[in-house]
This record gives sequence, C-alpha cells and structure tokens, in this order.
Amino acid sequence: MTDAPPLPAPRVIPTVPGPPVIGSLTNLYPHRLRAFLTGAYREHGPVFNVTGLGQTFTVLAGPEANVWAVRESARVLRSLEAWRPNDRAFGVQRSMISVDGPEHRAFRRVEGRTYTRSYLGANLRRALAVTAEDLAPLRAGDDLQVAHWCKAVITEQLARLVVNGTARPYLGDLLGFVQNTLMVRVTRQRPPLVEQLPGFRRARARSLGMVETLIDEHRRVPPEQAGRDPDLIDDLLAAQAADPAFWSDLDLRMAAIGAFIAGMDTAANTLAFVLYRVGRHPDLMPALIAEADEVFRDGPPSMETLGGCRTCTASCWSACACIPSRPP
Ligand code: HEM
Repeated sequence: MTDAPPLPAPRVIPTVPGPPVIGSLTNLYPHRLRAFLTGAYREHGPVFNVTGLGQTFTVLAGPEANVWAVRESARVLRSLEAWRPNDRAFGVQRSMISVDGPEHRAFRRVEGRTYTRSYLGANLRRALAVTAEDLAPLRAGDDLQVAHWCKAVITEQLARLVVNGTARPYLGDLLGFVQNTLMVRVTRQRPPLVEQLPGFRRARARSLGMVETLIDEHRRVPPEQAGRDPDLIDDLLAAQAADPAFWSDLDLRMAAIGAFIAGMDTAANTLAFVLYRVGRHPDLMPALIAEADEVFRDGPPSMETLGGCRTCTASCWSACACIPSRPP
C-alpha cells in the first residue's frame, strides 16, 4: 500500500490591514475604491479580504481571478447569500440570479431566450440604431463623459430590445435606483439609510413605474396585435398564464427590471474600459477604423461578421492588460 500524497497546506487568505472596527472602510467609497483595490491586488495577489465596520468582504481581483471565475465559478460558488437581500428590495423571495438547481433552470427556461446571442443577432439593427442615435450629436474634439455615455447607450439598447420600451426619460432614475440598491443590498458599500432618502425613493418609484407600465401595455396589446416579435415581458406573461403559482406579478416586475440590473453597469463599464484603453493607445486606432469601415461597408453587419472582427476583439481582450499584473 502506498501512502497518498500529502494534501497541500491550506492557504490563509490575506487581510488588508486596517484599524480595528473601521478596517478599510474609508477606502470603500466609490472615489477611492478602484485605486484601493488595485493597490491591494498588487500587494496581496488575486484573493484577499477587506474589512470594514465589522464586515469582511473577500475580493477576487485581476486577470488571474477572472480566468479562474470563468472556469470554476459555476462549480464552487453560488449566489444565494449575495442576491437574496436584493430580492427583498423588490418584494420577492427569489429571482433567477439568487437560486440554483432546478428552480434556477425554471427561471432560465422563461427568461433565457431574450438574453441569447441569437436574440441579439435578430435585433442587431435596432441595437446599432441606438448607438447611431447617441453618436450623432458628437463632434471631434467634444468633451465626453465616456462611462455615462456608454450607460445611456446600453440602457436604451436593453429597453428597446428586451422590453420594447424606451429608457431615455428614466436614465437617471434607473441608474440611481439600480446602482444604489446593489450598493446597499449586494456589495454593502452604502448604508440602508440610503433607501430612505427622497431622491432614491423617487428614482425607485419612477423605475418600477416604468416597468409596471410596460407590463400593463404588453398585457393589453400582445405582440401579434402590436406587430412585433415577443420580448422578455411577453415570455414572462406567457409563463405566468401557464403557471400562476410560480409567477406572481412582483416576480414579473423583478424579472423585467432584471435586464437593467444585470446589463446596465456591467456592459457599459466594460465598454468604457475598452474605450479608455483605445484612448490611451491611439496607435490602435488606424487598424480599428479600417476594420469598422470594412464591416459596415454594406450596411449594418451580422453577428457572424462582428464576431470575426479580430482587431476589435483583440483590443477588448487586451484591455485587461491595462492593469498590470502584480510584480512576481
Ligand atoms: C461585460 C458585461 C457583463 C458582465 C461582466 C456580466 C457579468 C455577470 C456575472 C458575473 C453574473 C453572475 C452574477 C452572480 O451570479 O452573482 C451575471 C449574471 C447575469 N447577467 Fe451578466 N454580465 C454582463 C452583461 C450582461 C448583459 C448586457 C445582460 C443582459 C442583457 C446580462 C444579463 C445577466 C443575467 C440575466 C444574469 C443572471 C443569469 C443567471 O442567473 O442565470 N449580463 N453577469
């Protein structure tokens, strides 16, 4: 009988040092957070703990953690504890993002279609039309708040494609409501008191009002009558009709606003990051412009053509290299 090889010694996750109780709290405010996390990543590596007011957050940071998350997270992580407080903010007990297993699959069967690549492909012209609208007023040399501009584009694309509405009159409300809710309920960067502030309550009422109005309109005028293809709300209404015990009206509202919770900041900040990368490296521009001219030569490109944009894809991926890895 041979001895089994010894297991590697468990490694202790390093904690960023800070004063008792307060910990790193003062570094967790939005204007300091990015520099703080980048510095902590460089010093402690891709996994470290951050404390503040008695709470401990485990941070996975940098390219190594991203690669690990893509490969392993479905197997070893779950989102229940992180996302349930967010569900409660919307008056529901569970949502697609907070459950696992068969219940998660039940949500995905209904909500998944409008989040697929093929759905985007079928609606690509409408998505590109939004980008064109938001580019039209810009002139070379204009100052541009890039991240905010990206949020306006992505939020409107989500509104038009996923729920057949417009988010233009509600952009500030959606951003204020969704971002603050996530920072109070999920990342816990802001205190619960934020949800009592009049500005937040107004943004919440207007954002939820927007989706409730859209759900009512979809109920009154089904897609065939409206002369459009079914969207997320139509899929949800069909699911509610088939299984009213599973889908309450609040579940529908949560799922409809879920597109904005999931897509608004994530996609917009990623896009802003890529534009930042290009701005910092103007040498990338000629090849990118040539590629864009080529694929738009005969009108809006298809998903396949876009997927074949090697220069653009390489620039997106190399945006990760903007944050240099920790020195060995
Ligand atoms: C670069 C952009 C994006 C990034 C980095 C990103 C990242 C993520 C991550 C990490 C999760 C898992 C969260 C968790 O379980 O705790 C997630 C879930 C999700 N995302 Fe995204 N996302 C992006 C864009 C979008 C967009 C544009 C949409 C909508 C059109 C979207 C819709 C969703 C949905 C619906 C889920 C829940 C899926 C499920 O639970 O089965 N995401 N996303």
